[in-house]
Amino acid sequence: MATALFPPELNSKRQLVDDALSGYCEFDSDCPQRLAEAIRYVVLAPGKRIRPLLVLAATEACSGDVQQAIPAACAVELIHNYSLIHDDLPAMDDDGLRRGRPTCHIQFDEATAILAGDAMIPLAFEILSSIDDVSVAAESCKVLARAAGASRLVGGQVDDLAAEFADRDVGVLEKIHRRKTGALLTASLELGAVSANAGTQQRNRLVEYGQKLGLAFQIADDLLDFRGSQTKMGKRIGKDADRGKMTYPSVLGETESEMRLHQLAEESIAALEIFGDLATPLENLARFVVNRTH
Ligand code: IPE
Ligand code: IPE
Ligand code: MG
Ligand code: MG
Ligand code: MG
Repeated sequence: MATALFPPELNSKRQLVDDALSGYCEFDSDCPQRLAEAIRYVVLAPGKRIRPLLVLAATEACSGDVQQAIPAACAVELIHNYSLIHDDLPAMDDDGLRRGRPTCHIQFDEATAILAGDAMIPLAFEILSSIDDVSVAAESCKVLARAAGASRLVGGQVDDLAAEFADRDVGVLEKIHRRKTGALLTASLELGAVSANAGTQQRNRLVEYGQKLGLAFQIADDLLDFRGSQTKMGKRIGKDADRGKMTYPSVLGETESEMRLHQLAEESIAALEIFGDLATPLENLARFVVNRTH
């Protein structure tokens, strides 16, 4: 893979998100200190913040205001972070390393990790519900709740676990990836559109971009697990093969997976045509996803 620097123009936006997340993860004295520590340990770890950056780039593509979209950007990152804590638990992927650090259940303990994840879900919806424009708040809650729910993120995770050591089938695989990862990435685009009060055509195009990019993102993750660097990824490599996961490289092979990844990224960029130059940050994010090494 070519080296992939994170688009540098996005660093200031990432800082905005990090600062806001830090503020949202300040708790009152009724929150046990160990729980607050575990939440901050996970949320303030050095993640790529792809989902919040997609929210902000989508809102910009629709001529919306970045500041107004910060709550939605943080809410989706919180759902993502809870899903990572639970994904790493011994009952799921049983991983010890995340973002270059011990996973939450290793650093703290399993019960604290489960409960820290639990606490992030209502926090995400509390943040969305406090958006001033009540119709934006309600629609944002709906978009995020659907993407995170039983038919999408959680359902995809259930089927991902059930498919360990199962017969390889590209249809089954794509259905897993669309739900466990694609749904939240697509929701990020929709949240950006909702924040900007975008029309149906713009929202539909962003959904199309999100669906293609979401699948591409998980193909890249599968490829990096297969042949990437643990140091760069900050998580263990080769774990999918060890657990018999159904992944793109294990079903289609490395070369075809890479072709699919490039094809999806091109298709995702093609869906942005109506936005003209306003879509440049989204295009750059799609290119990053294809070439990323972390
Ligand atoms: C990891 O997501 C889990 C997947 C859906 C593949 P990211 O690669 O976005 O993880 P962070 O947030 O940057 O750590
Ligand atoms: C995770 O997919 C998707 C989630 C919903 C968290 P993976 O299990 O492949 O993610 P990593 O490789 O552990 O980050
Ligand atoms: Mg997993
Ligand atoms: Mg995992
Ligand atoms: Mg993975």
